[in-house]
Amino acid sequence: MARITASVFTSHVPAIGAAMDLGKTTEPYWQPLFKGYGFSKQWMKDNRPDVIFLVYNDHATAFSLDMIPTFAIGTAAEFIPADEGFGPRPVPKVMGHPELASHIAHSVIQQDFDLTIVNKMEVDHGLTVPLSLMCGEQDPVKGAWPCPVIPFAVNVVQYPVPSGQRCFNLGKAIRRAVESYDEDLNVHIWGTGGMSHQLQGARAGLINREWDNAWLDQLIANPAACAKTPHIDYVREAGSEGVELVMWLIARGAMSDVACFDANNRAISTSRVSVRHRFYHVPASNTAVGHLILEDA
Ligand code: DHB
Ligand code: FE
Repeated sequence: MARITASVFTSHVPAIGAAMDLGKTTEPYWQPLFKGYGFSKQWMKDNRPDVIFLVYNDHATAFSLDMIPTFAIGTAAEFIPADEGFGPRPVPKVMGHPELASHIAHSVIQQDFDLTIVNKMEVDHGLTVPLSLMCGEQDPVKGAWPCPVIPFAVNVVQYPVPSGQRCFNLGKAIRRAVESYDEDLNVHIWGTGGMSHQLQGARAGLINREWDNAWLDQLIANPAACAKTPHIDYVREAGSEGVELVMWLIARGAMSDVACFDANNRAISTSRVSVRHRFYHVPASNTAVGHLILEDA
């Protein structure tokens, strides 16, 4: 059967992608940020998954205000990097996994989460910047990402956005879906966006190191409590765009220590997760960057 063995959490600041695309990663402003991902790039090489289930948000790129799906799963064979105003990023196209994505859609919808099924979609910095951070620079034509990716877009842009609790429960459902897929596949689940940032209004530029790090502590050690964080806390403490962090709870909910249930929905897992890597850095553009790698222990 397929199984989820690790989760990756990272911010997705578009300026990070631009720094990589323009060869600026060794400049003094960017060097400490990219140093924090050195371990992660090696870890990706040593622990290459068969499929990445990548939770991110679309920034009014593929979906405009004309149509706002709360949860959208990409079932296509490939996804083209979008033009967000400066031309598409010079990175490889993203190959999908239509069979596993369709299976997950089927299973998760049967578990009462109403997903939007997306058979054609371009992907923005929310998806491509995490891939670049974890996999390094890739030639847009001759290069390739290390494995197929299933894009999973969450609306955190236009209210009403889903609660952290709903995202956490969805993560559990995704784990069950993956574990009911017949083929032996090693799947990693990524949660992206955050940490504290606010891009507009009177509090533009807000960063809250203390809150971010306390939230990371709780995400690791007590994710069920972390899932109860109300929207207003994210917005007040981590800025209007800090609410992107609810997406991390989808990936956290899919880890073995919280997600294993028997047929009666009783927890049967005594497993633990281990923290392979933790990194926090300010500033990157307007954002505090947070990053975690968790593995099944
Ligand atoms: C920035 C951060 C984001 O998460 C985003 O989607 C756009 C811009 C920033 O820090 O500039
Ligand atoms: Fe964003």
